[in-house]
Amino acid sequence: MKILVLNGSPKGSESVTMQSVKIMDLYSKKNAFQYYDVIKHVDKLDKIEEQEHLKELIKESDGIIWAFPVYHLLVPGHYKRFIEKIYDSSVKECLNGKHSVVFTTSINYYDVVAHKYMKEVLCDLGSLVVDSLSHDMESIFNVSARKELVQCIENLNFALENGISFSNKKIVKKDLSIYKGVKGIEKIHMKGRICIVGDISNSKSLSNMVEEYTSYFDNTDIIDLSNIDNYNYCIGCLRCSRTQKCIHENSDDLRRIIDRIKNNYDIIVFAGEIKDRYLTWRMKTFFDRTFVYNHIPVFKGKQVAYIISGELSKNDNLKNILEIYSQGGRNLIGIVSDELEDMEEISRNIKTLAQLTKRYFDDNYFRSETFYGVSGHKIFRDAVYGNLGTIFKYDYQYYKQNKQFDYIKTIDKIKYCFRRIFFNRKKVEKFMNNNMTSLMVSGHKKVVEEVSKNVEKY
Ligand SMILES: Cc1cc2nc3c(=O)[nH]c(=O)nc-3n(C[C@H](O)[C@H](O)[C@H](O)COP(=O)(O)O)c2cc1C
Repeated sequence: MKILVLNGSPKGSESVTMQSVKIMDLYSKKNAFQYYDVIKHVDKLDKIEEQEHLKELIKESDGIIWAFPVYHLLVPGHYKRFIEKIYDSSVKECLNGKHSVVFTTSINYYDVVAHKYMKEVLCDLGSLVVDSLSHDMESIFNVSARKELVQCIENLNFALENGISFSNKKIVKKDLSIYKGVKGIEKIHMKGRICIVGDISNSKSLSNMVEEYTSYFDNTDIIDLSNIDNYNYCIGCLRCSRTQKCIHENSDDLRRIIDRIKNNYDIIVFAGEIKDRYLTWRMKTFFDRTFVYNHIPVFKGKQVAYIISGELSKNDNLKNILEIYSQGGRNLIGIVSDELEDMEEISRNIKTLAQLTKRYFDDNYFRSETFYGVSGHKIFRDAVYGNLGTIFKYDYQYYKQNKQFDYIKTIDKIKYCFRRIFFNRKKVEKFMNNNMTSLMVSGHKKVVEEVSKNVEKY
């Protein structure tokens, strides 16, 4: 069988992901592997010759491995662009009915989201996803994980030989009407500094929504990523890990933009158009480039909102991503999109967003983190406390200084140890069995009692 590997690591063959793919290659005697380094070709893919070259490779292959490192919850920016170029060209026709496998390496931080995205994209393109395997970047050192690699490629062979695959539902896209916007808006006086950042002017509808939102306020700044000519992808070189400097710092403006947003604004409104199952590659690359701050939550302490053009209600995965991007010490004000049929309703939503922008900022309202923020923090915390913290020097300093290594304290460990011994005593256990509900809530009730004595104080 001929297997085409669409390598999404910007590091080409020097990639961690590719070492695992090479294990698949070494063990699968029946297969001939061919490698296509997307980073080398993506910018040329507008040209017919490059498209024909890729089409030929896909046509010749029996199965495809979509192999990439997870970047900022998804595929890297250049791979996102590659996918957009497939959608916009005749390359997509060759993928119809092709068997595919998705393989990633990462530190398992929202790898599920990246896999879901890729599987949805492949489903929309008519490709048949046989298997989807996510490995930690260190898994290769583990014999059982190496066995999984072999099993995964054998699963692909099995599916090819037997012509089997699961079918999934494709998204049926609706053509949305362009949101026109309304005029004559009453101003909201706002002390907080608002920045709208996005890939805006490529979409008329999005531009109109952004214009309407900004017209509520006297002072807002717009950073339109569509207008930036020099726009470099993150290449995963990790120069930032020792210096917090980006290799592209002198060749494009993205680093300066990220710092400008970080240092000057209280509210960030991300504005983007849905392309395939995410926003545009420019938005993706923008988020990738914030990695210059490594695992430090770069926009911590900001209120965050989204203005989206496209059918967000059909994209649960994207909605989750937007929510996850709003955790880590940020607070989500809300998300508006132009998919509602009634323009007045869209307008009301924009007004609500503007009013809540002021309210949440004035009240300094930051919701507690949900599973997204709590679990994400724990993955990063453990990684930075361990090997990652030896490489990412600023991460370690930041986590230490900001008390992010929030493990159970020794004193509490001792307390819990005694408590366990006490709770295991026969009499205590009997008492607990009969009174569990009231025991669980007794402390909470004391707080309510306390508050009720002096409501004003709280
Ligand atoms: C810009 C950037 C963003 C990343 N984002 C994530 C992420 O969201 N989740 C995760 O688990 N790992 C993330 N990683 C870690 C990489 O996925 C991991 O190091 C991967 O194994 C690199 O593979 P490669 O050498 O094949 O490029 C990120 C790394 C970089 C450089």
